[in-house]
Amino acid sequence: MNVTFDFTGKVALVTGGGSGIGRASAEAFAAAGAMVAVADISEVNGKAAVDAIEATGGTAKFFAVDVSSDEDVTSLIATIVGEFGQLDIAHNNAGIEGEVLPLAEISSEGWRQVLDVNLSSVFYCLKAEINAMLAKGGCIVNTASVAGLIGGYHLGAYTAAKHGVVGLTKCAAMDYGSKGIRINAVCPGLIDTPFLDEMPAPFKDRLIFSIPSDRIGTPAEIARSVLWLCSDGAAYMLGHALPVDGGVVLGGTGTRFDDLVGSPTG
Ligand SMILES: NC(=O)c1ccc[n+]([C@@H]2O[C@H](COP(=O)([O-])OP(=O)(O)OC[C@H]3O[C@@H](n4cnc5c(N)ncnc54)[C@H](O)[C@@H]3O)[C@@H](O)[C@H]2O)c1
Repeated sequence: MNVTFDFTGKVALVTGGGSGIGRASAEAFAAAGAMVAVADISEVNGKAAVDAIEATGGTAKFFAVDVSSDEDVTSLIATIVGEFGQLDIAHNNAGIEGEVLPLAEISSEGWRQVLDVNLSSVFYCLKAEINAMLAKGGCIVNTASVAGLIGGYHLGAYTAAKHGVVGLTKCAAMDYGSKGIRINAVCPGLIDTPFLDEMPAPFKDRLIFSIPSDRIGTPAEIARSVLWLCSDGAAYMLGHALPVDGGVVLGGTGTRFDDLVGSPTG
């Protein structure tokens, strides 16, 4: 697939840019001509992403950040504006899965950590980014998840956080749509990143079986959606929570039965 975008002259921030979806997004923005601020808690991964971008002729710089810290995020945005002179695009993407357990077994500490890293972080980022963009306008995409649209087994904290990201996206889009800042969310399904490494194979296989397109998605497929949401092609889209999921949210999990002998579609 050859989809091209042009973000020449734009400054784009990608949080969680050192791995998986964030790295694909950082590479895609750089390939489309943007100067990219790769922000991540992992210096090793973040710098590796920057090296890869520079090796292909792009422009990028690594910034260490813990997105669950309001102070870190405020100083990140101030530093980016100080160094690059502006901020035009932000992809608020850093996230963790946290404890995968039935709800009553999730620890209070685990709950707080998932909410801090996945939801409060987006609030901190939005606040600082919107303030930086108010003068000239801009585009923001938050990485939610299909878990921001439907429930999931053993994912109470993660699902609550991602539903929160979708809600924040809608409210922020309403508050700043008239000020030239377009804010949307992307809701990935199952994507092939280190995020899934912890998942035992039988669980992964079961999940793949529930995907109408019959396969896990790639980080690049999410990145392309993020770039499109930031492009003029999506100029009239505000507060959207866009599933990019191979069809997972169409019927929910467990509705597929074409493998069963004697099924009407078998
Ligand atoms: N992979 C999937 O199947 C999937 C599905 C739906 C949504 N998502 C979402 O996509 C986003 C990216 O996930 P991924 O799959 O690329 O995972 P990943 O683990 O490959 O990348 C996540 C990145 O975020 C960084 N990070 C984690 N905590 C951070 C913090 N406190 N501050 C700054 N950076 C931090 C990590 O160092 C890492 O580089 C997450 O928000 C995740 O919830 C992933």
